Amino acid sequence: GATLDSYFLGNTYENPFMNASGVHCMTVDELNELRSSRAGAYVTKSATLVEREGNPKPRYHSTSFGSINSMGLPNRGFDYYLSYVIAQQGEAGKKNAPFLSVAGMSLEDNLKILGAIQESDFQGVTELNLSCPNVPGKPQIGYDFEMTEMVLGKVFSFFRKPLGVKLPPYFDFAHFDIMAEILNKYPLSFVNCINSIGNGLYVDLENEITVLKPKNGFGGIGGDYVKPTALANVRAFYTRLNPGIKIIGTGGIKSGQDAFEHLLCGATMLQVGTALYERGVSIFETLERELREIMEKKGYTSIDEFRGKLKSL
Ligand code: SIN
Repeated sequence: GATLDSYFLGNTYENPFMNASGVHCMTVDELNELRSSRAGAYVTKSATLVEREGNPKPRYHSTSFGSINSMGLPNRGFDYYLSYVIAQQGEAGKKNAPFLSVAGMSLEDNLKILGAIQESDFQGVTELNLSCPNVPGKPQIGYDFEMTEMVLGKVFSFFRKPLGVKLPPYFDFAHFDIMAEILNKYPLSFVNCINSIGNGLYVDLENEITVLKPKNGFGGIGGDYVKPTALANVRAFYTRLNPGIKIIGTGGIKSGQDAFEHLLCGATMLQVGTALYERGVSIFETLERELREIMEKKGYTSIDEFRGKLKSL
């Protein structure tokens, strides 16, 4: 049979599947459910320095092709998640410590948070979210190349633990090139492509109204809508980044086929957002089974045999 073993930053996970940060990971109860699910690894909700309520509701809406959200970074605050991930790394179990996602509300907050991680006993993986589209008045850092470079320069002046960045989607080769050139200058462990496609708008035809309360209905798009954009970003960064920088593929994964496509484009770990929200943690079992079936049908015994090997015409 085929193995789904996935080697990522010094650990081998039983499979590449994780939750996408934001989905099913706000509370210790939700995180514990991920820990006991079939997910190979898992990540916390992006933490800010101080606890946040997030945006007014409704702030999440499902459609037949995916989702739109404007959550606004509701979370229990950085200390809550740091204690959780540190407690988990002492536990013997099938999973290693969860990844810690952080999203400071300012450069200063990001430096405080990352300074505290550096000083702490946490030895696991940190994901720095540079791409939340939903906090009114706070542009996505990943679309500001100078700001991104400044953030990374300051962070890597002191940060020595495994760190990656969650990026927004890019839509132009000029932007892939500029961003990759910046990322290649720093000892990043990974990039995660993609966060939601920011500031979409969904319309309720019958009532002629938006479906989300915050930001007059503008919100981040996920699910089927975003898979081609996600695959393009995974591929664009896989082919441009130093091979030491791994790729996490996120966007439109709800079946074994979607997973296979992300891996073929170059992803190492895979994160599931909208589909996990819709179907709950039992989706991980299904994804594992479907991915294994596709691999066996094609005669692959491990993911390394096809990872990144997308052919072009
Ligand atoms: C949110 O909480 O608004 C979503 C976070 C994100 O998309 O990074």
